[in-house]
Amino acid sequence: MKDLLRTEHLSRGDVDTILTTAREFASNPLKAIQTLAGKSVAIYMTKPSTRTRLASETAVAHLGGHPIFLRSDDLQLGRGETIADTARIISGFADAMIIRTFKQSDVDELGRFATIPVINGLTDEDHPTQLLADWTTIFEHFGASVAGRKFAYFGDGNNMANSWLIMGAIMGAHVVVATPEGRFAPDLSAIERAEAIAKTTGAKVEVVHDAKEAARGASVLYTDVWMSMGDPESERSEKIKALSRFKVDDSLMQLGTADAVFMHCLPAHREEEVSTSVIDGARSLIWRQAFHRRTTIQSILFHLLRGELSGRQ
Ligand code: CP
Ligand code: NVA
Repeated sequence: MKDLLRTEHLSRGDVDTILTTAREFASNPLKAIQTLAGKSVAIYMTKPSTRTRLASETAVAHLGGHPIFLRSDDLQLGRGETIADTARIISGFADAMIIRTFKQSDVDELGRFATIPVINGLTDEDHPTQLLADWTTIFEHFGASVAGRKFAYFGDGNNMANSWLIMGAIMGAHVVVATPEGRFAPDLSAIERAEAIAKTTGAKVEVVHDAKEAARGASVLYTDVWMSMGDPESERSEKIKALSRFKVDDSLMQLGTADAVFMHCLPAHREEEVSTSVIDGARSLIWRQAFHRRTTIQSILFHLLRGELSGRQ
């Protein structure tokens, strides 16, 4: 596998490889300081980012490389140069690329024309590097066995909901996504892809429209912002009204297992998708998740550059 363009491209073996090395980087961040010595990684973002940018730049620096951060208005891409030409040029100057943008198809196209590894740093449909940090956090907290546990996501059927379903399927886990019906439900194609993967891994994938049903017996209660980057402001009030019954609060947490934890990819809007008492409470793993972003990106770069990820066959 040359690139990490979509969560669904990862095999279970790839996830295990990435998570194992990420743990090693956590104990020794400079473990592979020569990996990117004399090399550069382009980080191109057309949306804002706090964690992914900081994690990516420090990941590259810790591997001995040079991060080149590019915003959308820095490149001729924004003035009509094609993705194919941009991919060829970046491939001539850099050794890998991390991209955050709107359309998944743009990231797919970049991967097709680039001769260097391309890593998806978030699109409207997917957020694979986040899910790898999330599962690093889950394994760190609960151990690597998912048997008998339920992993529930609440709120908007957005990029995080899609990725949560697909990664849960890869991990052979019981994953549930609770969203409103209709426009704010996850993409049908993401649900179908997660179900197809689940058939091969023994996972159980569910999409429900009742927050309490999803929370009952869950070990992880996960949520994300209700208004994602790029969502039209015109739908804000309708969306907040539709999503309000999926807010993760203390009463929802109570329905989980006795050892249930709260997770959130961040940024968060306290008292919208989550109550302050939950996100800042003792069961919240948000800071572990955030700080695992660097080590997982280090690990992805390390293995992609060595050609050590096989992808799903
Ligand atoms: N979770 C996440 O991707 O955060 P940023 O948008 O700050 O990068
Ligand atoms: N769903 C959010 C995730 C941010 C990390 C967004 O796309 O804005």
